[in-house]
Amino acid sequence: MSLLGRIIFMSMVCLILIFAFFITLILIFAFSNASFGTLSSDRIPVANLGQDHVLSCYLPNTIVTKLSVTWAKLGESGVVYQYSNGAPILQDQNSQFRGRTELFPDALVNGNASLRLRTARRSDEGEYTCTISSSAGGGKVSISLRTAAYTAPTFTHVNNTLIAQANRWSPKPNVTWFTIDQDVLQGSTYFSEASNNIYSVVSTLQTINNSGNYLCKIENDLVLSTSIITSADSDVSVTSYFTYSDAPPVLLSAYLNIIPFVFCVCYLT
Ligand SMILES: *[C@@H]1O[C@H](CO)[C@@H](O)[C@H](O)[C@H]1NC(C)=O
Ligand SMILES: *[C@@H]1O[C@H](CO)[C@@H](O)[C@H](O)[C@H]1NC(C)=O
Ligand SMILES: *[C@@H]1O[C@H](CO)[C@@H](O)[C@H](O)[C@H]1NC(C)=O
Ligand SMILES: *[C@@H]1O[C@H](CO)[C@@H](O)[C@H](O)[C@H]1NC(C)=O
Repeated sequence: MSLLGRIIFMSMVCLILIFAFFITLILIFAFSNASFGTLSSDRIPVANLGQDHVLSCYLPNTIVTKLSVTWAKLGESGVVYQYSNGAPILQDQNSQFRGRTELFPDALVNGNASLRLRTARRSDEGEYTCTISSSAGGGKVSISLRTAAYTAPTFTHVNNTLIAQANRWSPKPNVTWFTIDQDVLQGSTYFSEASNNIYSVVSTLQTINNSGNYLCKIENDLVLSTSIITSADSDVSVTSYFTYSDAPPVLLSAYLNIIPFVFCVCYLT
């Protein structure tokens, strides 16, 4: 093949690869989000075992009529919850969700089809879809629910020992103490299994005197609890907050890794 022919051939191959890439990307977005109409404020939530959890699903419009909502769970027969013509339709509801799920009636007129799931169980983990149709459009959003147990710790400071206690954690977490400047301090942590894989945690830190500022982090693969402790003698004040891990959807992240590869192949040829 002449040099020109070869260049043209390789350019065609590259163009085809690049087009194929963008078309697949568009398809992935089309099928993973299904619609830009239906949204969720949290698509990878972590429910706290034993507590109620709200799965978010809504239309961004203000007023809607002719609203139909279907909540389903991948791999489960029947529906999680269904609503149409102003009323729930629950003949086909999966028995594990009976009496445990509901919408928020006041929110429905605003296109908010968020679902309350009562007393979260481990078996609630999985992929949910929320499908909305209405006068103001609709679509489908998928939500990947994970479960864990987590409680904010309480702190006491006596005899130069700072003690953190948290009642319910699962999976088993680790505890790390820090100075307010994020230098790691050596603490001692004890676990007791309260029930079926749920642990209560006690961690102690020897302190130089009863006044000072510290950070305490309790963490497992799903949840991180951060506490900022200000101690002045026996007065301990604490601010705690939770952050949740956000493993990205595997398919998309794998795909994004291919981009440099495609361009690299084209460049080399
Ligand atoms: C939808 O309703 C739920 C329950 O009242 C509420 O927590 C949530 O913030 C609402 N979402 C939006 C987007 O309005
Ligand atoms: C603190 O130390 C004092 C004296 O050593 C002791 O009497 C007291 O019981 C200790 N308090 C606690 C809560 O351990
Ligand atoms: C003990 O706490 C006081 C504040 O109450 C502080 O001024 C002092 O530096 C602390 N001592 C040590 C050894 O950290
Ligand atoms: C604590 O657990 C988290 C999540 O499992 C892990 O990423 C982290 O490295 C652990 N830290 C320590 C100090 O073991």
